[in-house]
Amino acid sequence: MKEKVLVTGGAGYIGSHTIIQLLMSNYEVVVIDNLSNSKEASLKRVEEITGKSVKFYKVDLLDSEKVDEIFTIEKIDSVIHFAGLKAVGESVEIPLKYYHNNLTSTLVLCEAMQKHNVKNLVFSSSATVYGDPAAVPITEDFPLSATNPYGRSKLVIEEILNDLYISDNSLNIAILRYFNPVGAHKSGMIGEDPNGIPNNLAPYIAQVAICKRDALKVFGNDYNTHDGTGVRDYIHVTDLADGHLRALEKLNEKPGYVVYNLGTGCGYSVLDVVKAFEKASGKTIPYQLVDRRAGDIATCYANASKAEKELGWKATRGIDEMCEDTWRWQKMNPNGFE
Ligand code: NAD
Ligand code: UD1
Repeated sequence: MKEKVLVTGGAGYIGSHTIIQLLMSNYEVVVIDNLSNSKEASLKRVEEITGKSVKFYKVDLLDSEKVDEIFTIEKIDSVIHFAGLKAVGESVEIPLKYYHNNLTSTLVLCEAMQKHNVKNLVFSSSATVYGDPAAVPITEDFPLSATNPYGRSKLVIEEILNDLYISDNSLNIAILRYFNPVGAHKSGMIGEDPNGIPNNLAPYIAQVAICKRDALKVFGNDYNTHDGTGVRDYIHVTDLADGHLRALEKLNEKPGYVVYNLGTGCGYSVLDVVKAFEKASGKTIPYQLVDRRAGDIATCYANASKAEKELGWKATRGIDEMCEDTWRWQKMNPNGFE
């Protein structure tokens, strides 16, 4: 029998890429998404790419009755929980919405899992839980902190899941702390489709390259880094997706509560990414140096050796491939999934 995986937030950016890898590895996939930050078209494209079907429920995870019903209909073996709101700036403006959505949806999901005896959960956390790290590369045992409501929601969920595990040792929970996901599926058929003006670097650069935006604003060139601009650990979304498959396999070994960094271990500055994108696209990316963005840190990259040792997972795609794949998606879909 095929293992059946419930993917919450599966119509979104990372979820849709992960579903491709799941389907290609012969998992059966059920998706719950309220489409608050995504379009059903992404799942149609996933079906086109893989030639396999996805069972989709357009349901809000806050709706506990519907979620319970889905667990009754589908015999779920494992859950990957991507659903959540993720815009840092917006979380500062409307914190209650972020706490309500991200925390309550997780509680509803965990209650349904408990009731239906589903033991395996993979949770999307973020490198944001390391706050402003005292050193790099960052290992999983670094102190945790949050600087905004989005980050705090991730931190609190990690703690809730740990409490849950303490109360029931038969659970298996993998917390995956992603660094900076970028790139798109090789086909160019799915990718990141942000609403409005992108907050994040890669989609912003891609929209400059396609002349939707005039110039990139580089937030700060006075950081203590090799060229003064912020350094991050960009990871290809397909590598990230593969990390979820390895985590699911790990859960079948009944490891209990486990935490992994998913990053490449390499740091690239904003200007390094601009150069790589120019090479990939053959376009010039005009940019202006402006003040630092509030809340940004100088440098953040992972030590991902725990995931390599325990999951047998390692990112294999470099910055050039990340930019080439982002560009292919942007060029083929100038207006995203519209
Ligand atoms: P995304 O917005 O593309 O996907 C999230 C999906 O969740 C969306 O399709 C949205 O419609 C859905 N959703 C939100 N609230 C829901 C609810 N109450 N009920 C049902 N569906 C709901 O985001 P993404 O980039 O794919 O991120 C996936 C997860 O990874 C998120 O939890 C995010 O916080 C986390 N994460 C993302 C990044 C990143 O840079 N993309 C980095 C670290 C962690
Ligand atoms: C952002 C989130 C973080 C989340 C992470 C993972 C913020 C403040 N933080 O981190 O919580 O976990 O994504 O995806 O949003 N930059 C520019 N110009 C731009 C956009 C970005 O110079 O228009 C710079 C930033 O200053 C930073 C780098 O590019 O140095 C990456 O920025 P971004 O893509 O927003 O990711 P993070 O800030 O690392």
